[in-house]
Amino acid sequence: FTTVKEIYKDREAYIGKTITVGGWVRSIRASKTFGFLVLHDGTFFETLQVVFGEKLSNFADICRFNVGSAVIVTGELVATPDAKQPFEIQAAEVVLEGASTPDYPMQKKRHSVEFMRTIPHLRPRTNLFQATFRVRSLAAYAIHQFFQERGFVYVHTPIITASDAEGAGEMFRATTLDMENVPKNSDGSVDYSQDFFGQSTHLTVSGQLDVEPFAQAFRNVYTFGPTFRAENSNTTRHAAEFWMIEPEISFADLEDDMELAEAMLKYIFRYVLENAPEEMNFFNSFVDKGLLERLNHVMTSDFGRVTYTDAVKMLEEHNDQFSYKVYWGCDLQTEHERYLTEQIFKRPVFVTDYPREIKAFYMKLNPDKKTVAAMDCLVPGIGEIIGGSQREENYDILKARIEELGMDESEYSNYLDIRKYGTTRHAGFGLGFERLVMYLTGVGNIRDVLPYPRTVGNLQ
Ligand code: 4AD
Ligand code: MG
Repeated sequence: FTTVKEIYKDREAYIGKTITVGGWVRSIRASKTFGFLVLHDGTFFETLQVVFGEKLSNFADICRFNVGSAVIVTGELVATPDAKQPFEIQAAEVVLEGASTPDYPMQKKRHSVEFMRTIPHLRPRTNLFQATFRVRSLAAYAIHQFFQERGFVYVHTPIITASDAEGAGEMFRATTLDMENVPKNSDGSVDYSQDFFGQSTHLTVSGQLDVEPFAQAFRNVYTFGPTFRAENSNTTRHAAEFWMIEPEISFADLEDDMELAEAMLKYIFRYVLENAPEEMNFFNSFVDKGLLERLNHVMTSDFGRVTYTDAVKMLEEHNDQFSYKVYWGCDLQTEHERYLTEQIFKRPVFVTDYPREIKAFYMKLNPDKKTVAAMDCLVPGIGEIIGGSQREENYDILKARIEELGMDESEYSNYLDIRKYGTTRHAGFGLGFERLVMYLTGVGNIRDVLPYPRTVGNLQ
């Protein structure tokens, strides 16, 4: 087959030639003597118009093709300078590869994204989801390219884990237990400590604790895989299954961490804008009118930087506008994060040095003993897309912290061990991949950037 992408990229080579194209019928209309069929072949954002006439032996059959049918068309590509599309195929042959039934759910009219979520298996055939999932694919590729170009080693951290990396208790159990015959505690409750052939296990909430030791061997590493959080939160930014990119760098502090995060985001934006201009123009026209201007601004300006303490001072002045009032020590809510990045900084901003009480156990304690060397990257429209920190590399401080929080030290023995054997200063972060795709496309709901969203109420 010739692809629609090839035709668009090198039109002079194809005009006047006979070509064969395979794809799916987006729309079809016919009169007594001829008809038009719009074909989408999946290789490129644009569609291709096919004109078919009564001379075709199966003309009457083609007129009855349903939307959604898979067809193979052979014919001459002719330039149509006055039409909306720059060219069309004049069909010499139209073969039906796979028929579609008249109840095909995506007829020509526009459908709501809510409706589209009920048909996750068909929605990638629409413009919106074609554009979204191609951008998603390109962004993933750009991320690998960014890290590989810089010599980072890609580590596959496990999905089934024993420890709670974030200490937030939002884990899914992974169990081999026979539910008919579960081991019980003395009080009659289920003994989940037997989950995984006798050990307690969960689906990972983060690859960080497993990737850190690799950073003490390869220096610069990253993991990029699915993560799971059993938070029962029904928001536009939370999914139970999402993908996370987690680099970890040695001989590095929080400043290095932020520089890496900023360079990475700018690299991804540039790559996607260069490689999916049609899709990005579509988002800019139909999803988010200011998108391209905003992304260009982000790529050419420095991200803001502010400490948590200063951010709280700035936000306190606007407390009348928040449903949840800001004070030193509070966890910033989405409304505060968005206010900071949208109203005060008007660009992405790193908030650093959060109170230790609201952050994870592994973050490096600052000299003030009240805050930790943490950073969150906040962006307009979404809020937090990255959470990172310099790690506590001091064995005694980390051990004391684990004890203080009442965590089960035995689950973290490897993690502590690394601090005993030639540890270095090190830092890392986690980028939520779906939130990145939302930011890149302007799509406002995480359910619409995940091929098969796993959120409360969605499991198709
Ligand atoms: O801030 P988080 O919890 O950080 C970590 O997991 C660290 N271990 C990362 C690290 O330092 N290696 O999560 C990181 C990012 C968030 O900023 C957010 O973008 C995304 O992961 N995220 C979610 N995305 C979608 N749905 C959820 N339920 C998410 N929870 C976190
Ligand atoms: Mg976070």
